[in-house]
Amino acid sequence: MTNKPSRIVSGMRPTGKLHLGHYFGVLKNWVKLQEEFESFFFIADWHALTTKYNQTDDMKQNVEDVLLDWLASGINPEKSTVYLQSLVPQTAQLHIYLSMITPQNWVERDPTLKDLAKIMKDKQENISNLSYGLFGYPVLMSADIMLFNSNYVPVGIDQVAHVELTRDIARRFNNIYNVNFFNEPEPKLTQIPLLKGLDGNKMGKSFNNDIKISDTDEITEKKFKTAITDRNRIRRDDKGNPDNCEVVYDYWKIFGTKDEQEEICMGCTSASIGCAECKKRLTSKINEYMAPIRQKRAELQKQPSLLKDIIYDGSKKAQIKAQEVLDGVEKAVKMYK
Ligand code: TRP
Ligand code: SF4
Repeated sequence: MTNKPSRIVSGMRPTGKLHLGHYFGVLKNWVKLQEEFESFFFIADWHALTTKYNQTDDMKQNVEDVLLDWLASGINPEKSTVYLQSLVPQTAQLHIYLSMITPQNWVERDPTLKDLAKIMKDKQENISNLSYGLFGYPVLMSADIMLFNSNYVPVGIDQVAHVELTRDIARRFNNIYNVNFFNEPEPKLTQIPLLKGLDGNKMGKSFNNDIKISDTDEITEKKFKTAITDRNRIRRDDKGNPDNCEVVYDYWKIFGTKDEQEEICMGCTSASIGCAECKKRLTSKINEYMAPIRQKRAELQKQPSLLKDIIYDGSKKAQIKAQEVLDGVEKAVKMYK
């Protein structure tokens, strides 16, 4: 365990039940990475507060749902350190130190915050509704990453700017305190196909176009009935073109064998198979694929005290590593000890 070459860290906000985009885009990758790296995966509940500070009724449920989806997908708490951000208070302590040395204009350059500010402006909402905590969120994320002196951060392309900022902060810390303490973490991009939502847009909870990991077979089938298909295929005997069927056929590429893909392609272009049947066959493939994951999730869900133990044990494990780093930081800064 200890001779794993390097350390990775990544986190997710507790926004509720995860969908297939998360599974294929993120979780499957984490499950693989945990075999190779010393891995820290955390639920970023403080990050959720940066924008949802006044909508916290679902917090506990959301944390549990994310944890259930992780565990069901194969994140193994024996192999990885799985923890809850707010149960590792060293995160907040490190955030304080980093916030002191981070120039304000570095934070203001953050593309996500710029986008947010623009959205607020377009919606004619008062920019002062954006909280102080939200503006500090790129630094909080740097603290998450630097808390274990991680080497790599598996993230999507949208998060790369944050990892770049983390590198800058790490370098600045070393310079200011004249130490060689933090290494400069690198993003580790996932090259996995992006699953679209059922309407052809980006899959997302707020667009109501997603398939959850935890959806039942029936719901999966029902949702797929609404999926867009080749728009030129209107009647049953119209010939279709799978290349214009970006949602259904893209899923076939993931869930079907090469032979099945070919069969569907032929059936579609010759109109020997209708969209309804094509979707039905696809959803039974998806349900078959997801069955063991869904079953595991259902079993875990029956054991709330086990979930609690996992999160507390993981957080305790994370605290030990984090405290080592924090001690090093306070020594470098020359705090009274
Ligand atoms: N900001 C990330 C997101 O919105 C979540 C996150 C928080 C994260 N801290 C992190 C990801 C540290 C990787 C490492 O998706
Ligand atoms: Fe898409 Fe299948 Fe209909 Fe062809 S038959 S247009 S691949 S849903």
